[in-house]
Amino acid sequence: MPVLQTTPAAAPAPQRWRPRPATRKLLMIVHIVSSVALVGEVWGLVLLNVTATLTGDGTLANSAYRLMGVLVFGGGIPLSVIALASGIALALGSRWGLARHYWVFAKLLLLVGVVLAGMLLFTPEAMADATAGGAPPPAGRGWWQVAVVSGQLAMLLTATALSVLKPRRRIAWRRTRAAERS
Ligand code: HEM
Repeated sequence: MPVLQTTPAAAPAPQRWRPRPATRKLLMIVHIVSSVALVGEVWGLVLLNVTATLTGDGTLANSAYRLMGVLVFGGGIPLSVIALASGIALALGSRWGLARHYWVFAKLLLLVGVVLAGMLLFTPEAMADATAGGAPPPAGRGWWQVAVVSGQLAMLLTATALSVLKPRRRIAWRRTRAAERS
C-alpha cells in the first residue's frame, strides 16, 4: 500500500541573534549617523577636489590636497568602519538578513566599493607632493581624483536611496540538492 508522504511547510529561516529593542535602536542611531556623515565627508572631498583642480593658485591646491588627508583619516575611515559594522549587525539581527534581500546585499557591496575606491584609486598625498611649493596641479590627474570621489558619492547616494525605499525583492540563491530534499 502506498504511503502518503506530506512535505513539511517551509519554515522561516532561523534568525540566530535578536538584539533587544533598546540595543537595536542604539544600533540604528549609530548606523544612520555614521553612514549619513560619510555621505557628507565624501561631498566635502568632491568640493575640495574640484577647487584644487580649477584654481590657478597652486598654494591653495596644495592646502586642499593636504586637508583631504585630515578628512579621510579623521572621518572617512572611522565612519565607514562604523557604518559597515553597525549595518552588518542590524542585518543579521533582523528579518532583513545579510544576503536575503537585494537592498541589504547591494548596500554591502556599495560600501565595500566605496572603501576599495578610496584605498586603491584616491591619492591625495601624491597630489599634495605634486603641488608642493605652489606648483600647479597636473590637470588630468586632478580630474581623475574628482571622478573617483564623485563615483564614491554616487554609490553612497544609491545606498541611502535603497535604505529608504527598501525594495521587497528577495535574492533567489540556488538551493543545494540536500536543502531541497530536507
Ligand atoms: C553605504 C552606506 C550606507 C548608508 C548611507 C546607509 C543608510 C541607512 C539608513 C539611512 C538607514 C535607515 C533607514 C530607515 O529609515 O529604516 C539604514 C538602515 C539599514 N541599513 Fe544601512 N546604510 C549603509 C550601509 C549599510 C550596510 C553596509 C549594511 C549591511 C551590510 C546596512 C544595513 C542596514 C539595515 C539592515 C538597515 C535596516 C534596519 C531596519 O530597519 O531594521 N547598511 N541604512
